Amino acid sequence: MCGIMGYVGPQQAAPIVLEGLRRLEYRGYDSAGLAIIEGNGITVRKAAGKIANLDAVLSNANPEGTLGIGHTRWATHGPPTDSNAHPHTNMQATFAVVHNGIIENFADLKAELEESGVEFVSQTDTEVLAHLVGQYYDGDLREAVRKAVDRAVGAYALVVMTSHEPDHIVAVRMISPLVVGFGEGEMFLASGVPALLEHTRSMMVIEDGEMVSLTADGAVVTTIGGEPIDRSPVDVEWDVEAAEKGGFDHFMLKEIHEQPEVVAETLMGRIDGDHVDLNEVGYTDEFAIDLRKIWITACGTAYHAGLVGKQLFEGLLRIPTEVVYAHELRYSDPLIEPGDLVIAISQSGETVDTLVAARLAKQLGGRLVAITNVPGSALSHEADDTIYTRAGIEISVASTKAYVAMVVVQYLLAMDLGQRRKTLSAEDQRRLGSGLAQLPGALETIIGHDDAIARVAETLVDAQDIYFIGRGLDYAVVMEGSLKLKEISYIHSEAMPAGELKHGTLALVTEGTPVVVVLTQEATYDKTISAVQEVKARGAYVIGIGYEDDDQLDRYVDEVIRIPRVEDLYAPVPAAVPLQLLAYHVARLRGLDIDQPRNLAKSVTVE
Ligand code: AGP
Repeated sequence: MCGIMGYVGPQQAAPIVLEGLRRLEYRGYDSAGLAIIEGNGITVRKAAGKIANLDAVLSNANPEGTLGIGHTRWATHGPPTDSNAHPHTNMQATFAVVHNGIIENFADLKAELEESGVEFVSQTDTEVLAHLVGQYYDGDLREAVRKAVDRAVGAYALVVMTSHEPDHIVAVRMISPLVVGFGEGEMFLASGVPALLEHTRSMMVIEDGEMVSLTADGAVVTTIGGEPIDRSPVDVEWDVEAAEKGGFDHFMLKEIHEQPEVVAETLMGRIDGDHVDLNEVGYTDEFAIDLRKIWITACGTAYHAGLVGKQLFEGLLRIPTEVVYAHELRYSDPLIEPGDLVIAISQSGETVDTLVAARLAKQLGGRLVAITNVPGSALSHEADDTIYTRAGIEISVASTKAYVAMVVVQYLLAMDLGQRRKTLSAEDQRRLGSGLAQLPGALETIIGHDDAIARVAETLVDAQDIYFIGRGLDYAVVMEGSLKLKEISYIHSEAMPAGELKHGTLALVTEGTPVVVVLTQEATYDKTISAVQEVKARGAYVIGIGYEDDDQLDRYVDEVIRIPRVEDLYAPVPAAVPLQLLAYHVARLRGLDIDQPRNLAKSVTVE
């Protein structure tokens, strides 16, 4: 969702900015543009659609200059057109800005600017910032940006350049991420690490409420108010190769295949026989013992991981647990109290809905544990404790390896709490630990069945609607399977507890309607089979996912996908994988843009 790239140094800026934007494509966007200091002025080039369109514009008219800023936009205010693409300038085109996030009071600011004679050329909220900075400029770009930002309400990152100071970029972070890259006699700025990796490993994360000023010689960081900040760059270890597809057709497939390793990595050093060692968490044994309520807040796939967590915390610890969509938590006047544990789950650690909910939970006195995949992410800064999932960079918009890692971390967290509360015996802990240790092998086995799953996917390619059912932990898993399918295949699907079908949705099941059922929970197996029989009686075409030694399943369903036998508690991890592969192959067979599905973005940095 919206990407930013900036460069100042001795090289031509346009190709560097363009390449940086390409590295951020995975975040999702619908137009792109850049601004370069060319001669005494600013040249702007932009285009709706993919970066290839911008590239085509540049190949006819390439601006020459060694300072530039660029942007990939994901439309919020105004449709994805050339004129709404960033950068935006003031009327004299002496200032150019790019911006991620939303300026909530832009309508008031726009009215005020229009009254003073400003003519707007776009429908964006961003354009107000270009005009404001231009109006406030009095020979000091930092000061002008400071004054403009003082007027703006919202969560955003803003980058500004001006032809009056042709060797200078100024940027501000208010929640939306910004990273500075340090080169030799050149400096870079981006909204994400992948854009910088081919240029430098030496990077500095700009924090909320900070301003950075770049010239080719270095960066000066202050608070927005101007207080100096002394921070050194750090070396980032991610390599460019990790951001490539590594021989797979799509990042999503590569990431699905990485899952055995990801789970092993996530467990590594954190479990030893009957003992869990989560040294990242700083809460005390007393806190764990006194704990009476757990909240989990997240969005999308991370929320589905939380649905698994709820059943773990309630089942293993007998602690009441609520899972609340982050965007709902904020407005639900939640009954979070001091002493409650609030678990915020976010692969990116950037999702603004989750960040805002996490902040609120802390204000209400909850102890905030973040589960995230991105070191140094905004969520980890908010949290009292952060547990990293170690899934590595996830490029595909459809989250897979991060999901299983988020689930696995919750097993560890439940065990850690159980250990501290002394409600899990050493024997329980040993059994739970050895169950976790089996998961990487189980995932390997399922991934080995990829061809068979691809054949099952052929039966779904032309479906209009697909229903997913399961009970208990299987219900949590089918929620994720349904989301995965709809986001990349564009086939409508719904997931529900198997018992709920007959209360309404069964009316939609007719001859040939595909129904995917997950059957791993012994306690509810027979009841789920009853639901299968109900849909079969209406002509449904049923795909069943069950254990390899389940010798009943074939009798009730049309297609069977088998997973290795694990303890029922752990089934969400292996059961998720055939659902991911099913979604992947359906989307592939439909010839869709799997890694960047339409209308979606990798990290959702607007509320
Ligand atoms: C997952 O496939 C989706 N792309 C989406 O639901 C995602 O999980 C959600 O936006 C939350 O993202 P986060 O984990 O980075 O917070």
